[in-house]
Parts: sequence; structure tokens; C-alpha cells
Amino acid sequence: MRGKSVLLIIGGGIAAYKSLELIRALKTRGCGVHAILTQAGTEFVTPLSVASLSGEKVFTDLFSLTDESEMGHIELSRSADLLVVAPATADLMAKLAGGLANDLASTALLATDKPVLMAPAMNVRMWNHPATQRNLAALKKDGVLFVGPNDGEMACGEFGPGRMAEPAEIAAAIEKYFASGGRLNGLRALVTAGPTQEPIDPVRFIANRSSGKQGYAIADALARAGAETTLVSGPVDIAAPTSVRLLKVTTAREMLAACESALPADVAVMTAAVADWRPEVALNSKIKKDAGAKAPAIQMAENPDILATLARHAQRPGLLIGFAAETENVVAYAQAKLKKKGCDWIVANDVSPATGVMGGDRNTVHIVTAGGVEDWPEMQKSEVGTRLAARIADAVRGKAA
Ligand code: CTP
Repeated sequence: MRGKSVLLIIGGGIAAYKSLELIRALKTRGCGVHAILTQAGTEFVTPLSVASLSGEKVFTDLFSLTDESEMGHIELSRSADLLVVAPATADLMAKLAGGLANDLASTALLATDKPVLMAPAMNVRMWNHPATQRNLAALKKDGVLFVGPNDGEMACGEFGPGRMAEPAEIAAAIEKYFASGGRLNGLRALVTAGPTQEPIDPVRFIANRSSGKQGYAIADALARAGAETTLVSGPVDIAAPTSVRLLKVTTAREMLAACESALPADVAVMTAAVADWRPEVALNSKIKKDAGAKAPAIQMAENPDILATLARHAQRPGLLIGFAAETENVVAYAQAKLKKKGCDWIVANDVSPATGVMGGDRNTVHIVTAGGVEDWPEMQKSEVGTRLAARIADAVRGKAA
């Protein structure tokens, strides 16, 4: 961890005393620590003890003009490599899940472009409360990392999950994060995601059921691994990961143009469900339903194949990965697609309605390469993203070696 730096946010809980031990553990490993103490946190540990152990000034007040002129809260939240919240109280979790920023700690969490690791600590009933569990799910979805809480006896005398992870466990989680992160540092990644919409007239379009979730998770994972990531996305209802460059498009032709503008790229992952055809003419005014008239026939034209175009491109991405959404013969079709499209890997998945993959949070994929097929077990789409980023890092490092 030498040379790394952590911004530690100490919330107001009895476990705050353990955060002093955490500062020592991090400093011993060579990691720099700046700390923010929430107002409630100052009831449990003093700014003086935190400053003495971290060897740095402690920040407690959002509106200290001196602090703002020396190091503003945005700068504070971005100069660290990782934000760690320990103890992460139910209140701090709720604030970040809801996007509130009414003190220095919550403002720093919202203003950062760095990953966040939370070590929750609270009473077992608070932890089990549907509101906290809802916030936990939302934060995980946003990419917040968690360590603990552990089961055990609490300061309040109750027993169950809610005890903050021990300082050594939190330090180990931070160490693991730094060891796995940064493997794609200095590389450029391009990801397409979501459906495309092909206009019929100003109010109607042809589209598909793609939610964009898998592509967004992959873009997030690549960015977390250090790649400078451009996400070219069709219309979807999900928020983009903060650390990617988002290019929003509507049609397949716009998606192709956006992808070409993002080249060169070391790796490209094409997860978008691009419409194969578009109405040949997009009418400028709405088609009217005249009584007795025949239903209109829509003449279709073929859209460009973005994956195949990039495969032949003068600036072909170093590692080009396609997706194959199939409803039968998943692996066989993917193998054929690998050849037809001229890409390096195909990530194949079964999107039959019974699998719940379309729009759902889980996925079962097969990685098809010229060398063979890897069958991955069913997992969260976010985990598919993380594992794929790790697999890409292995391949790119192997190629470079
Ligand atoms: N793709 C693309 N541009 C298109 C169509 C598909 O870039 N116009 C990409 C997708 O993003 C995906 C891969 O090609 O990475 C496979 O898409 P898929 O729709 O499964 O393949 P098709 O060639 O359309 O084959 P089919 O629909 O017949 O299965």
C-alpha cells in the first residue's frame, strides 16, 4: 500500500474507537490517511487522537473557510485513491444511497470520483431494517464496496449482524482492493450498451428489451481496474458509473459514429443490442390512421454491424469482444459468430424469457475464444463485469509479455 492514500470518514458510532486502530494499521503498511470526522463521530473520538495517529489535519466542518481555501471538499474527496467509511452508520449509508450532501462527510462521498469502501456498524435491528437493506442494495448497485458487518455481541447488549469488521479485516480489504485495482491502468476501453431505437416517425420507433445493465457493469469494472473507459449507450433507465465517459446515442448509425470517435482503444466490449434493421425512411410527420386505410408497410434497411466494422477498422481495438444473445444453441451460434464478426472473444448468454436475463440482475455466460469455451456459473451481472475485467487484464498482460 506504499504510496497509496485513503480518505477515512469516521461516522458517529461506538465502533469509531476501532477506526483509530485502523489508521495505525494503514500507516504501518505505508498508506497515507486523511480523515473526516462527522459531528457525531466527534462524540466518540476526538479530532486530536485522529490527527495524532494520522499525522494529518482532521476535517470536521463543511463550512470552514480556511479549510476550503487550503483544500476544498471536492479536492479532499478526489486526492485520495480510495474513500473508506468506518464506521458506516445507518445514517451515512442512507445519505449516500439517497444522494444527500448536508455535511462534509456526505458531500465528500457525493463529490468523489474514487471508489468507496464501507464498513457498516449499527444495532442488529437497524441493520436488518428494510430501509437499511434497501440502501445497502442500492449502494452495492452503485458500486460501493463493503466489508462486514460481522455477527457478534454489540455494545447495546444485543447479538447478531451489525458489529463493525475488525481493523485488521478492513485493512486487508483495502489491501486487496489496491492489489486488484489498477491492472488496466493506462489502457483505453470502449464499451457499447443498451438497445438502439430506430425511428419510424417522430413518435414511433423500433427497439428491443435490452436494459443495458450488463454493459454498464462491464464499463464500471473496466474503469475500476484503471482503464480510461468510454461507454457508448443507447437509451436506458440506469445511471452511468461516475468514472466513465458516457456518450449517449439513439440509433445504430449514431452508435457506430460514437464508437469510431472513441478509437483508438486497447479493448472494446460490444454488449449493445444493436437493431439489425431500421425503417428505410424516418418520416418527418406522424403517420395518421385514416379510417379504412390499409395498415402501413414499413420498408426496412440494414444497419451497419458495429462489431464487424471495428474488426476491419484501421484502428481495430487490440482486444475486440462481442456478445451473443441467443435463445438456443448458445455456444454453437457464438462460435459461428466469432468467425463471422472477426472478433477475438464472444461472450455468449442465453436470453430466453425463462432465464430472466433480459432486464434481470443475474447472468450465466460462456466465454468463447478460438482456443475453446469457458462456462461461467450463474452470477450477478456486476460480478460478470468484475470477472471479465480481470480476464481481460490477464489476456492483455499476457499479450504484452
Ligand atoms: N452487433 C453490432 N452491430 C450490429 C449488430 C450486432 O455491433 N448491427 C454486435 C452486438 O453488440 C454483439 C454482437 O454483434 O456484440 C452480436 O450481436 P447479435 O445481435 O447477437 O448478432 P447478429 O449478427 O445480429 O446475429 P443474429 O441476430 O442473427 O443472432
